[in-house]
Amino acid sequence: MGGRPDDAVIFTRNTTDSLNLLAGCLPVVDGVHTGDVLYLDIEHHANLLPWQGVPHRSVIAAPTLAGTLDLLRGELAHGGVSLLAVTGASNVTGEVLPIRALAALAHEYGARIVVDAAQLAPHRRIDIAADDVDYLAFSGHKLYAPFGAGVLVGRPDWLDAGTPHLAGGGAVQDARIDTVSWTTGPARHEGGSPNVLGAATLARATQVIADLDVDQWHAHENAIRSFLVEGLARIDGVTVHQIFSDSASFDAPAGKRPGGGAGTGTIGVVNFSLEGYDAGLVAAYLSAEHGIGLRDGRFCAHPCSGGSGCPPARCGQASAWVPGWRTPSGCSPHSSSCARPAWAGTMWWTRDAGSRPTTPAPTRTGHPTRPARRARPLHPGLTLSVRSRGACRVR
Ligand SMILES: Cc1ncc(COP(=O)(O)O)c(C=O)c1O
Repeated sequence: MGGRPDDAVIFTRNTTDSLNLLAGCLPVVDGVHTGDVLYLDIEHHANLLPWQGVPHRSVIAAPTLAGTLDLLRGELAHGGVSLLAVTGASNVTGEVLPIRALAALAHEYGARIVVDAAQLAPHRRIDIAADDVDYLAFSGHKLYAPFGAGVLVGRPDWLDAGTPHLAGGGAVQDARIDTVSWTTGPARHEGGSPNVLGAATLARATQVIADLDVDQWHAHENAIRSFLVEGLARIDGVTVHQIFSDSASFDAPAGKRPGGGAGTGTIGVVNFSLEGYDAGLVAAYLSAEHGIGLRDGRFCAHPCSGGSGCPPARCGQASAWVPGWRTPSGCSPHSSSCARPAWAGTMWWTRDAGSRPTTPAPTRTGHPTRPARRARPLHPGLTLSVRSRGACRVR
């Protein structure tokens, strides 16, 4: 992640935990916060709700990234912002935000920046020092490590002065029957027995990702994503949603270019809706009849994806996630979502690419098997064939 030598690395449970921890460490003088937290309406709840409990301001994102930066600049220029909280990549649409440019903007007005890298970290190389990011939060499970471990990396001063995240063993210098002096450093916030396995597996996952060839990695992900987007574009009634009309081509203002940082563009998330069909039905249908796992709903980002006031183009519905890399065997860790049914709580069948019914799939919880049957089209254009080795073909 390219942290500075004195950055604190605090192990947490996940990104949500990391951002809540930081919310408890915002600078306070005489019981009053020294500034507001500024955030956009496109955030995941993890990077939205912790700030609602402290002095804050929110900005509704403009239809372009360039316009959104201007809006943030206008708000920062009013003064009194201590922290800009932004996502590195939207979990709703996959669009990447220019974190280097945003960091420069925040610093210009005396604020710090925290980047929610839950979605960015598995898809882009991040360099905290080069991008001048003050705090970065991410989760192990999004990096193909097991659930249960996350990280907050960043400048130690606020963290050393902040309220200990978990009061308990390991977080103290000295404790008496009714008083305590807290330690500093990561231990201040890591009270209790550590999640050793979570930290070790998260570390290994970051090493594996750090060793990837960036060009091959991005080419692979872009190829699968383009394949999916182009296939969806051929289906009547399908709309692929994005927040910013310029996210593919955005270039930060001169002197503040994203450069070699996490950059811009879109990670492997595709958000689409099918006119006339409920997203839940589309997702259930694709899961049941074609073995394709989608997420549907509002993606823990209600203001961005269907909250009141949400622009219609943003009311994204189903979302497909494509892997950024392959395991040495040539199968991506998430190809299972393409090659096998996403078990939806009942018994469904797989079929092969040629629409021939295949052997009933094994049941998850011992449901009795039933004979295979042909998939029924939900929509005349929506026939997605299922391929092994991580490829979903949209016909
Ligand atoms: C952009 C973003 N931020 C934060 C989170 C929260 O991550 P976690 O549930 O691991 O805390 C997610 C999870 O989907 C996410 O996509």
